[in-house]
Amino acid sequence: MKVGIDSIAFSTSKYFLKLETLALHRRDDYEKYYIGIGQKQMSVFPPNEDIVTIAIDATQKAVAMLPDKNDIDLLIFATESSFDLSKSAGIYVHRFLQLKENCRVFDLKQACYSATAALQLAKSYVKENPRSKVLVVASDIVKYLPNTSGEPTQGGAAVSMIVAKDPRILTLEPHSGIHTTDIMDFWRPIYKSEALFDNKLSVYNYLKSLNITLERYLEASHLNISDLDCVCYHAPFCKMARKANQQTFKNKFLENSLIYGSLIGNSCSASIYICLLSLLDNTPEDLGEKRIGFFSYGSGSVAEFFSGIISAGYKEMLAPESNRQMIEDRRETPFEEYESIFSGTSAPVSRKYQNVGPVALVKIENDKRIYEFLCPNKNL
Ligand code: HMG
Repeated sequence: MKVGIDSIAFSTSKYFLKLETLALHRRDDYEKYYIGIGQKQMSVFPPNEDIVTIAIDATQKAVAMLPDKNDIDLLIFATESSFDLSKSAGIYVHRFLQLKENCRVFDLKQACYSATAALQLAKSYVKENPRSKVLVVASDIVKYLPNTSGEPTQGGAAVSMIVAKDPRILTLEPHSGIHTTDIMDFWRPIYKSEALFDNKLSVYNYLKSLNITLERYLEASHLNISDLDCVCYHAPFCKMARKANQQTFKNKFLENSLIYGSLIGNSCSASIYICLLSLLDNTPEDLGEKRIGFFSYGSGSVAEFFSGIISAGYKEMLAPESNRQMIEDRRETPFEEYESIFSGTSAPVSRKYQNVGPVALVKIENDKRIYEFLCPNKNL
């Protein structure tokens, strides 16, 4: 039975900061950000937007492609930016999407790797329950301390994917190469909202994990590197994917897969699937029946190399114009506003800022996050 991604959509904030502006205020050379790191802009998230609101926006678009959302009986929310150590962020998505009550919901965490873990779990679940559909949501907002080397690689986005049999976008293949090792290359203690990292160690371990997992994948699948038509990499910044690509594989479609990420910034768990969407949306050639390799990396660290075959007719399931429009429609944030949003000194939740999707975080009351539809009586 073929199982894989049947529908996919993404969302990001309504606001962005130009890295030219950041470079100017940090007295850094813009060429370092643009050429050395490979980034042009980063999404900035106002206080009324969080991992839940962007996840709802991405999910309503992914679910709209299904004949019946009642087929979803498992929702896995992958994130490392959670604001609650107990309640799953997925439960808010479940409520606003009005999914059936007879549906399992939970969050999953392992840095940027968690959405791949969710995808692989979803594949096994559908193999066991062929009539079921699984909703995999990856949503992250990345924050580093100001004036650190990580600052120009901040960003965020949500990707929602429906995993089902006879998928209309991509069939997941059975083989993987996996590598887990205990390393402190990037982490976020629960009392901090900004991630900490060791820049050189993280880049070193990413590339080392790529070598190990690719070799294990090729050995397990009995394929050659030339059997891959393209590879999507976890892209914390575009130069990282370019370095990876140089090390392993001459991928003529690489730049198409990096267009969205260069404007959004690091979206952690969502990043590799943003690359997939960027590749599919921005490649004019028909990629139907092509084999795509995926290198998923989550600091700490767990890495996996796996592959999938693009379905014939996949273009009918995409919305490239509206994806590009969503990015183009973002409003540029002045530097002072970026600083006040990131330091949390702008109003905790205010109507001053727009939301990208139908739901806003309107207040935090008695430590409870209160979300509301922007248009009352909205039915997704
Ligand atoms: P850095 O130490 O500031 O940068 O950190 P650098 O000095 O190594 O310079 C970067 C590149 O810019 C170099 O090129 C320089 O030569 C070049 P390279 O040697 O790499 O080819 N450069 C210039 N180019 C043109 N004009 C100039 C100029 N100056 C320098 N004037 C780093 C850079 C990206 C590491 C930093 O942004 C960082 O620490 N980021 C956070 C950690 C990170 O993203 N690590 C990536 C791997 S780990 C990962 O992917 C997991 C993660 O997503 C988290 C998770 O799993 O949850 C982060």
